[in-house]
Amino acid sequence: MSDLFSPLGIGDLALPNRIIMAPLTRSRATLERVPTPMMTEHYVQRASAGLIIAEATNIVPQSIAWDCAPGIFTPPQIDAWAKLVRAVHAAGGRIALQLWHGGRVACDRSADPRPALSPSGVNENLDAITVWGLGPEGKFIKLNATPSREMNLEEVRATVKAFGAAARACRKPRNGAMPVPAPTMTIGRAGSSGGKNGMLGGRTKHATSAPSASPAR
Ligand SMILES: Cc1cc2nc3c(=O)[nH]c(=O)nc-3n(C[C@H](O)[C@H](O)[C@H](O)COP(=O)(O)O)c2cc1C
Repeated sequence: MSDLFSPLGIGDLALPNRIIMAPLTRSRATLERVPTPMMTEHYVQRASAGLIIAEATNIVPQSIAWDCAPGIFTPPQIDAWAKLVRAVHAAGGRIALQLWHGGRVACDRSADPRPALSPSGVNENLDAITVWGLGPEGKFIKLNATPSREMNLEEVRATVKAFGAAARACRKPRNGAMPVPAPTMTIGRAGSSGGKNGMLGGRTKHATSAPSASPAR
C-alpha cells in the first residue's frame, strides 16, 4: 500500500508526495485583484506539498463574489501570478490555479450595478446567497447578491473563451501553473451560505443548451 509520502503521477505531473492542498480563498489580493507578496509568502511556505491548488481566481471582471479575491484577466494580475508561481517553483513546489466564474453568486458594488451572468437567471432564493466585501473599517462584511440574468449563447461562448484565455495566462511562466476549472458549486460547499446543496441550492438546473467548456491548452 502506498503511503502519504510516496510519489504520485497525475498526467504530466510527478508529485513527490500525495499531499494536495485544497483551494482556499484568503482574500489577500488587492482590490484590483492583483496577487500580493503576502500571497507569495503563503504559497512558498507550503511548497513541500505534493501539489498546491491555489485559490479560486476570477477569469472575468463581471460575476465576482469576493472583494480581494485574485483575478487573472489583467496584465498586472497575470504578471503577479507569474512571479508568485516562479517563487513557488524556486522553493521546489508545484502549483495549480483554480479558475473561477462566480455565476449568480456575485455582487457588483458599483453605483450602477450590472447583473451577474448566470446559467439560469434564477433569483428567487438570492437571500440564501452571501457574498463578501470589504467594509468601511477594512473588515469583510456580508453583501446581498446582485440579481443575475441568464447568459445568452454569445455570452456563454465569451465565457468559454475567457476560461481559455485564463488557462493560457497560467502558462505564462515557463512550466507554470496548471489551470483547474472551478465549478461555483465547490465554493458553495465551503460552507459560506448554501446549505447541503451549496450556494446553488439545487434549484438552478434549468439550462439553455450551450457549448461545453474545456480549458484551452
Ligand atoms: C476559508 C476557506 C476558503 C475556501 N476557498 C475555496 C476556494 O477558493 N475554492 C474551492 O473550491 N473551495 C474552497 N474552499 C473549500 C475547501 O477547499 C474545502 O473545505 C476543502 O476542500 C475540504 O473539503 P470539505 O470542506 O468538504 O471537508 C474553502 C474553504 C475555506 C474554509
